[in-house]
Amino acid sequence: MSQPHPRIVVVLAAGEGKRMKSALPKVLHPLLGRTLLGHVLTAAAPLRADRTVVVVGHGADQVRAHLADVAPETTPVLQARQLGTGHAVRIALEAVPDAAGTVVVINGDVPLLRPETVADLVGAHEEAGAAATVLAAEVPDPTGLGRIVRDSAGRLERIVEERDATVGERAVREINAGIYAFDVVRLRDALGKLSTDNDQGEEYLTDVFGLFASAGEPVAVHVATDHTETLGCNDRVELAGLRRLLRDRVNEDWMRTGVSLLDPETTWIDVTVTLERDAVVDQNTQLKGASVVGAGALVGPDVTLEDTVVGAGATVVRSHAVGAEVGPRASVGPYAYLRPAARLAEKAKVGTFVEVKNSEIGAGSKVPHLTYVGDATIGEQSNIGAATVFVNYDGVNKHRTVIGSHARTGADNMFVAPVEVGDGAYTAAGSVIDKDVPPGALGVARARQRNIEGWVEMRRGGTAAAEAARRATEGASGQESGARGGEAIHGGAEPVRAAAGEVDTATE
Ligand code: UD1
Ligand code: MG
Repeated sequence: MSQPHPRIVVVLAAGEGKRMKSALPKVLHPLLGRTLLGHVLTAAAPLRADRTVVVVGHGADQVRAHLADVAPETTPVLQARQLGTGHAVRIALEAVPDAAGTVVVINGDVPLLRPETVADLVGAHEEAGAAATVLAAEVPDPTGLGRIVRDSAGRLERIVEERDATVGERAVREINAGIYAFDVVRLRDALGKLSTDNDQGEEYLTDVFGLFASAGEPVAVHVATDHTETLGCNDRVELAGLRRLLRDRVNEDWMRTGVSLLDPETTWIDVTVTLERDAVVDQNTQLKGASVVGAGALVGPDVTLEDTVVGAGATVVRSHAVGAEVGPRASVGPYAYLRPAARLAEKAKVGTFVEVKNSEIGAGSKVPHLTYVGDATIGEQSNIGAATVFVNYDGVNKHRTVIGSHARTGADNMFVAPVEVGDGAYTAAGSVIDKDVPPGALGVARARQRNIEGWVEMRRGGTAAAEAARRATEGASGQESGARGGEAIHGGAEPVRAAAGEVDTATE
């Protein structure tokens, strides 16, 4: 047996949204982390409806697929031809033949609607025992919207579409928001009586109000306190306007919970993001998807995080991260790119012009400069020299590189995976490491340098270089020649000299 008094929500999402001029159905356009339709469903969710029916039509397959993804509990119902909002609701109600009590109808294109406003509308409707209640709002510019027409006593008489309105009615700034509560039994009856005698030749849901009012059925108007909640979206200019409004609302909410936004106008936070206390977000920053910014972390300026978790006290500056994890007090950037499954443990560092993908960087380990880390595991407290490439791809398969803990790899290394560098091992600058380096060993893989004395004088005599060389050899007699200040890494009997600023630079 079906439930005696199911509460039904109907969302109208069959329209094309012609003015969006898009291959994507209007209700699937994104707005700070959810589609327009997703926002509407979220606003209706706290009603805990027994059934939520979504009327689909234009791009039905795309809309159905999206519903299966974000709201699998909803029931899509096909309106093959878009013959008007009244027609759409009539079809929706065919899917719930036993429904009784209150049905809430929401246009699919009002994404700023707050759950409390819908709840208040339903509360007012049920308290008044009305047959129909419309959410209305006083707006600065009512162009294109349905107007609330009241009688001299202020009672709702009917709702008139702008294109069917008289000049006097067009002057009304109280509009229909496209959100309603109805007694479903009486609604079903009235929908059977709708005419298509209007400018668009459609069945208008809004005509139900006139029918009820003239039949003496109680109809009510619930006025929204914040008119921006009722704004619809008909083209991309309006969509951008809604995005700004939602941005301001989201940013204000975060600031009130103890997050600092240094430039709220250039900070775009999806409604799905979480920020913890004392997080600081600097300007030009976008936080998207399931991203989390931990307590006291500093993100920005110029950062985009998508589905990325930033731990407490971490720093991310001028960087782009997707599907990454940044551990507590870790540091990223400026100019880093973290790709999916880049995982930085506590106090790890990924510095400037460094890209990391599908790799773990252990606690306190550093990858400071100009490096690609792909498919690698790096232990704790290790240091990767500047300009290193983790060569992970043989053209067919990807392979892993493992670097142990307390390892120090030289600048300009290639790690040709699969390869392993043991705990406490070193590698020399400029090495192509394609064999494992045991713990504590120095891996050297580069051609030995030889100097051909006097070559410039012999082959480039008379040039400025030759002249400079002559001055230097004359003036520097007695001074030591060769690299100075370099760090000597001893590999057995012979010292291997690394040029200054290579291995050394990588230690900071
Ligand atoms: C509608 C209201 C108008 C109100 C405005 C608020 C009617 C007749 N008019 O006008 O009073 O001020 O919303 O934004 O209802 N849809 C269907 N099937 C259809 C037609 C529409 O599912 O056959 C859906 C659309 O996808 C959309 C919603 O219903 O989500 C509203 O349709 P839209 O064409 O945007 O109506 P408006 O002209 O905005
Ligand atoms: Mg509309």
